[in-house]
Amino acid sequence: MSAPHGFVRVVRSTVLAAREGLESQVCEVRVGDEIVLVGRLNDGQVVAFGAACPHEMTDLRDATFVDGLVRCPRHNYMYDPRTGANVIPTRVARRENLWKLRPGYLPTHSVEERDGWVCVRATPQPPPAGWDPALEEAPAPGARPSRQRPRRHRTRLTPLP
Ligand code: FES
Repeated sequence: MSAPHGFVRVVRSTVLAAREGLESQVCEVRVGDEIVLVGRLNDGQVVAFGAACPHEMTDLRDATFVDGLVRCPRHNYMYDPRTGANVIPTRVARRENLWKLRPGYLPTHSVEERDGWVCVRATPQPPPAGWDPALEEAPAPGARPSRQRPRRHRTRLTPLP
């Protein structure tokens, strides 16, 4: 049997064990001209994603799976490997600070398991719903909030008569 239309057979299903944490298993495969990483989450789902962290292009071959997310080994940003959405720091940071943190999104590929093979769609999925590149653009210099503290008005106390 061959791979579904638009998919590429990359590795035997039995090669990928469901592991997370320090035991995570991330395998490098070739999909057309692109290097893609595949791994199996604890729930058994196989995921496929880009080999470089979108934050600062760190190699994700040493990434780990934590609670179904991909954790980059460099700054511990976490991405959902099903959609590519950044979870940490996006969920914990203030929206107005995302331009400094620049989490981006992790390119992902659809995966199907068929006849004992893991098959990865050749074309990446679209960016995750809700991803807004404008949030990661630096604000215009005049638009940045001032770091100066508001001046306090001193009240002179006049002695009581
Ligand atoms: S390079 Fe991956 S989190 Fe910073």
